Amino acid sequence: MAFTNTLPSRVFSPHILLRLLLLLGLFCILTGTAWIYQRAPRNAAGISTPHHFPVPNTKPHPIDVLLKRAEIQFHSLMAKETLDLKSATKAYRERRGRHPPPGFDKWFQYAQENGAVMVEDFFDQIYHDLTPFWGVEAKTIRRQANTFEQVVSVRNGTATFKTDTHREWMDLWHNLIQTIEKWLPDVDVPINVMDEPRVIVPWEEINTCVSKERQSRHLPDAKDVLSKFTGLRDVDTWNSSAPVDLDFIKSGVYWDIARIGCPPDSPAHNITAVTDFSGPPPSVPTTFPPNSFSGYVQNWTQAKDPCLQPSLRETHGSFVEPISQSTTHTLFPMFGGSKLPMNNEILIPPAMYWSHRELYTGGDNEHGGPWEKKKNMAVWRGMASGGRNKRENWRRFQRHRFLEMVNGTSVEVAERNPEKPGQGQTFDLGFYKVYDLKTKVYELGSWLKGVVDAGFISLVCFPDEGNEKCSYSDPWYSPVAKMKMKDMYSYKFLPDVDGNSFSGRYWGFLQSTSLPIKATIYAEWHDSRLVPWLHFVPMDNSFVDFYGVLEYFMGVKNEEGNYEGSHDEVARKIAMAGKEWAEKVLRREDMLIYVMRLLLEYARVCDDKREFLGFVDDLGR
Ligand SMILES: *[C@@H]1O[C@H](CO)[C@@H](O)[C@H](O)[C@H]1NC(C)=O
Ligand SMILES: *[C@@H]1O[C@H](CO)[C@@H](O)[C@H](O)[C@H]1NC(C)=O
Ligand SMILES: *[C@@H]1O[C@H](CO)[C@@H](O)[C@H](O)[C@H]1NC(C)=O
Ligand SMILES: *[C@@H]1O[C@H](CO)[C@@H](O)[C@H](O)[C@H]1NC(C)=O
Ligand SMILES: *[C@@H]1O[C@H](CO)[C@@H](O)[C@H](O)[C@H]1NC(C)=O
Repeated sequence: MAFTNTLPSRVFSPHILLRLLLLLGLFCILTGTAWIYQRAPRNAAGISTPHHFPVPNTKPHPIDVLLKRAEIQFHSLMAKETLDLKSATKAYRERRGRHPPPGFDKWFQYAQENGAVMVEDFFDQIYHDLTPFWGVEAKTIRRQANTFEQVVSVRNGTATFKTDTHREWMDLWHNLIQTIEKWLPDVDVPINVMDEPRVIVPWEEINTCVSKERQSRHLPDAKDVLSKFTGLRDVDTWNSSAPVDLDFIKSGVYWDIARIGCPPDSPAHNITAVTDFSGPPPSVPTTFPPNSFSGYVQNWTQAKDPCLQPSLRETHGSFVEPISQSTTHTLFPMFGGSKLPMNNEILIPPAMYWSHRELYTGGDNEHGGPWEKKKNMAVWRGMASGGRNKRENWRRFQRHRFLEMVNGTSVEVAERNPEKPGQGQTFDLGFYKVYDLKTKVYELGSWLKGVVDAGFISLVCFPDEGNEKCSYSDPWYSPVAKMKMKDMYSYKFLPDVDGNSFSGRYWGFLQSTSLPIKATIYAEWHDSRLVPWLHFVPMDNSFVDFYGVLEYFMGVKNEEGNYEGSHDEVARKIAMAGKEWAEKVLRREDMLIYVMRLLLEYARVCDDKREFLGFVDDLGR
């Protein structure tokens, strides 16, 4: 659901033209290579023979192509960087079709003083999240927000909060907002303190709200624009503080609750839930994942979207059996750290990203040593979370699948499965033949044994059997020792998959000197700042591309024990680019800048005069 309508971009400056020419050159080199390859004479074995000049004898690997595309995407993003208030407001009006909110100048100054890289697109998520609220009466939003159980409030430049019981996340989010309180208008920010997102409004209803926003979007004359928020005096003097009934649904099959948030023409909208989760997942992919480029993720938005991949209803714990569930179908301004594409939460940086705890980052100054000193292996540690795994459903959980697929022993067992060759407990190697890899079937298991160190630290069995026992999954998983984040950074590759919701360690991984390989169905505040294949490696939620990704970066061990055809230098470059970029645009300062901008917009959409509130000082009023 892409709500943000991009307005025509501004006229090219000579500077941008130059960049475009450079990119065009790059592109020609790339496509030229492919063209030469196709025209080169071939012998019977299909190997090109040298002509007048050396000709590459292999087609570019699909990942080579994706890497180039990522560079191009990044350059066109950075061509939009704005360096002063005037161009920032211009970029705002072009992209959003409104005047910036009151306080935009102070916000811009704060961002600049704190060294922010300023690209209007970095804030797209805010508009995606807030757009539907323009279709609801402002008074309704104010009342809903004020009466919720957990709320951070700002009045007269001071942040306070209320909560039902002591909660670490409330402390953290309050602290974050407090840091910027003196720049903020009066707001009530209801907070989701659960792991799982909680708002799913039927797509048709959101669509109606979105078209209302579209109709109300305009640029009033500067003389008609108001620069002061009304404030929340009315909310504070309301007679009744009875909470708005949001009708949270606490039971039921989550997939059926969730898919009504998918567009009606999407593959998932009409597909009802699966209820029998016993045995391996039935949908055995023997083709590349949908929307992929020769098997590898080319559109990260699509790869993350369960609306486009109904098979996830039986292969992701969030749909198989979430640990906790409490969902409303009422549009309500709930702020939270992550959400699914069908959710209507307003995203803020997850509380754990604001904490300094070593558990999530490896420690503030621990980002790993030099690449050359790292083990040429992938490492993964974590709990068997993802939802409530039980005897009758555990084979459908993403973490169980990932661990079985990278466990050399279990892959060997699957390869030699006498009844159904390739069939494991949670996966089927049927897909393997469509990936043209050097590591052959029957060699896969032994290869993985040497290149992956992965295991559950706890099997989180249900019902609990104590002593780290889990009678139903014990034959296939043995708990391994915990490993600190900073010790994981002595491995080159860091695969990352969802737990009960998004994975909280990803932020630490991005800042490390190792390479994150990421699969998820969850959205986060930072998504439009990161370019897949440039700052991290994206992975499909079926994980069928993982072997290909590893082989591309590591190469294959030959008989002498050396790796051939590796792209180690590329892996190092992405790892370092991700780290350097995270240090520029995912800093604690960037979280504050994002939240400040978000709350200016939120205060406006909660104000009865919202259509005429704006910042227009730059227009020479
Ligand atoms: C905020 O300031 C206004 C005006 O100075 C005052 O009337 C109001 O009581 C203050 N509100 C709070 C919560 O301090
Ligand atoms: C509050 O209650 C009083 C007396 O019942 C009434 O006159 C007033 O309109 C109420 N105000 C609101 C905002 O409901
Ligand atoms: C889903 O069902 C509705 C109503 O029956 C129909 O209009 C729509 O086209 C269907 N969507 C898909 C993707 O089949
Ligand atoms: C990726 O997919 C989304 C959703 O289908 C689409 O809006 C977007 O334009 C695509 N991005 C690219 C780079 O193709
Ligand atoms: C790897 O797989 C084998 C065979 O299924 C299993 O016995 C072993 O416990 C697994 N290892 C880990 C670390 O889970």
